[in-house]
Amino acid sequence: MTPLTSPLVRRPLRLHIPTDPNPSRLMRPLAAALAISALALLPVPSVPPAAPVLTPPMGWNSWNHFACDVSDSLIRGTADAMVLSGMRDAGYRYVVIDDCWQVARAADGTIVADSARFPHGIRALADYVHSKGLLFGIYTDAGTKTCQGRPGTLGHEVQDARTYAGWGVDYVKEDWCNAGGLDAPTQYRMFRDALRATGRPIVLSICEWGSNQPWEWAPQVGNLWRTTDDIADSWGSMLGNLDQSAQHASVAGPGHWNDPDMLEVGNGGMTDAEYRAHMSLWAIQAAPLIAGNDLRTMSDSTRTILTNAEVIAVDQDSLGAQGYLVWTDGPSLQVWARKLSGGARAVALLNRADTAARITAWFSRTGIRADSARVRDLWLHQDIGTFRGQYADTVPAHAVRMLRLTPVSSR
Ligand code: GLA
Repeated sequence: MTPLTSPLVRRPLRLHIPTDPNPSRLMRPLAAALAISALALLPVPSVPPAAPVLTPPMGWNSWNHFACDVSDSLIRGTADAMVLSGMRDAGYRYVVIDDCWQVARAADGTIVADSARFPHGIRALADYVHSKGLLFGIYTDAGTKTCQGRPGTLGHEVQDARTYAGWGVDYVKEDWCNAGGLDAPTQYRMFRDALRATGRPIVLSICEWGSNQPWEWAPQVGNLWRTTDDIADSWGSMLGNLDQSAQHASVAGPGHWNDPDMLEVGNGGMTDAEYRAHMSLWAIQAAPLIAGNDLRTMSDSTRTILTNAEVIAVDQDSLGAQGYLVWTDGPSLQVWARKLSGGARAVALLNRADTAARITAWFSRTGIRADSARVRDLWLHQDIGTFRGQYADTVPAHAVRMLRLTPVSSR
């Protein structure tokens, strides 16, 4: 077995600006140019995002299941289902319409919603969502057009932010299609400032797929930022996004979160065991929990997975520390651990292989400072017992055991 070293610590970028007191004439323009480009790289003063989000946002988004098939009745029905299913009470709050709600701009530049699909307008829809004790989110794109070719926000940042605030929007996901030649930090900062200027606390979800190193600048700009390409409803895609997002764990914390993309739980491409693993690993990663299934028709088993209060409590832990891979045996048998407030650890024994296997969690590897720990299974909702030094069990293929380890102080 291969123990992993502790998480990577990000090193600040060192800039070397020539300081020769007598630079030759030829060197002066070069030194000046270097100094200017170095200044451009210096950190800008930190302005917080428009809304504080102390724990990872939870909600629902239309894209994974419905793509462009969005409508007033879908959003109202989803808000109803969020309440009736117990998801609201489990912590899910934001109901977000993704791409395709918008069709044009009016003569004065105001963004126009599809009046056939949203006959009552967006303001009335937001009011309905709010009347259910939920929050309302919408989608735009920093470029000229959205990924589905609808009008983007480029050149309309202030106008769109005002429109959204006027509609009662609480959350905006800003995508990055058709943004060739633009600088991502600049565009997202511009939109953050436009949202802040409205005076309404609006969550900014940055969606440039990790293509401009958002972990280096997005914590001061948005509340969450995508670290990966779009998730697909498959075991391989889910694990790929986990591995990519895990590389930036040290950057996450209260108010600013890595986003490995929305949940696929309940969409049919994975088994329930795989969906339990998906949910568990998103919780270990302090990932936003944005459901992406049809809440109106979901099965009891899907609802049970999405509303597991003990797993959600891990995701929403107030310390806000993203978990890490702490042990791996080859590429398939892994132990992931997340530090929780109060000294406990959430631990996922992950079996990525096609056959069942025994996986051991050594307590010292999870960071626990005690010889013994109480072990609780967060899917069985059972205390398993108190163990010394380690806990080991057989994990079925493509599954996790999701545990909470509470250190027991030695007497
Ligand atoms: C991009 C985003 C997705 C979704 C679509 C909509 O692919 O990454 O999450 O918003 O655009 O077109």
